[in-house]
Amino acid sequence: MSWKVQLFKLNFDEREERAVAEVIRSGWLTMGDKTVAFEREFAAYLGSDARAIAVSNGTAALHLALLALGIGSGDEVIVPAQTFVADINAVVLSGATPKMADCTSFDDWNIDPADIERKISGRTKAVMIVHYAGVPCDMDAIVDLCARRNLKLIEDCAHAPGARYKGRSVGTFGDAGCWSFFTNKNLSVGEGGMVTTRSGDLEQQVRYLRSHGMTSLTLDRHQGRAISYDVVRPGLNYRIDEMRAALGLVQLSKLDAANTRRREIVEAYREALASVDGVALPFPDRLDRTGSCHIFPILLDTGLDRLRIVEALKSAGVQSSIHYPAVHQFSAYAGMDLGATPVADEIAQRELTLPLYPGMSGDDVTLVVAALRTAIAQAA
Ligand SMILES: Cc1ncc(COP(=O)(O)O)c(C=O)c1O
Repeated sequence: MSWKVQLFKLNFDEREERAVAEVIRSGWLTMGDKTVAFEREFAAYLGSDARAIAVSNGTAALHLALLALGIGSGDEVIVPAQTFVADINAVVLSGATPKMADCTSFDDWNIDPADIERKISGRTKAVMIVHYAGVPCDMDAIVDLCARRNLKLIEDCAHAPGARYKGRSVGTFGDAGCWSFFTNKNLSVGEGGMVTTRSGDLEQQVRYLRSHGMTSLTLDRHQGRAISYDVVRPGLNYRIDEMRAALGLVQLSKLDAANTRRREIVEAYREALASVDGVALPFPDRLDRTGSCHIFPILLDTGLDRLRIVEALKSAGVQSSIHYPAVHQFSAYAGMDLGATPVADEIAQRELTLPLYPGMSGDDVTLVVAALRTAIAQAA
């Protein structure tokens, strides 16, 4: 399929090519200097004394955070209903039970602190939140709630590299921040992720869990820092490799400029869509402020046939997507009592994601909006 405007395009140039070639020439492919530098620079980028542990993907980051926090069988974790299924999968695979909290409103799709509070039971051990589309959640209310109710807080920051709440980077409010550097993210390495935390103990546990529970790495032994190793707890192999860490360093250096460009595109969309009937935009006064503008979600009016709109956009050469189908519609979760989330359920039916990436031009935005206007007229 050749699109006129596709959903996402990589923000890569010869710097990424050079970074990968350099790693290949160095002869050291995994968990070396690039990984150490990526962790150090990512932590410094977040500030707030964050510590960072690079991992193989965002789902691994979530799984490691849950395991390191001691969450497992018999525990409940409150998760957002408006999120990617990785959050729910990670909770289930850690042995705990997910309970979903609803979106705040049709304007604010982030998790509702009041619904988190309603969903807390005697077994609740943690709250997992996602900064959807890169818009920071209501962190004052969520941090206060977790402190009052003695709950661990995991921030899924997959959408949010560069996003700040009241000037402070997301991912530094909770016990752990979990980041994805999947291809379509604001910081892309293909497959990659990061766990961040301000706790030295949690950092150490994540490092053990990331690499078989071992007390030293191949690099330590290569550099003569260790001869052997102990295994202090059962662990996994969720390591990142040097090619991806090298890509991460280049992408991190481009992140702020890329997010600024994303914000300009979002502003152009918002202006152009103001005159399109049948569409509402979430986060009316927040999306362009401190968010990372990861995706551009819109809410179609009730009664519009979303599939027909997707097809019409496709015919016009515009790729679109859905973020996200409701989790309880997946066969793996159909029988599970995840809790009532009426607002998220309706958003899941009516949401449509339009293309957004730093390389988009103003003409691309105009083309997408014109195609959407025609598609909606046909679907009404
Ligand atoms: C909100 C959210 N959480 C978690 C993930 C999982 O990240 P990954 O694909 O790197 O495992 C993603 C990305 O796909 C995501 O969008």
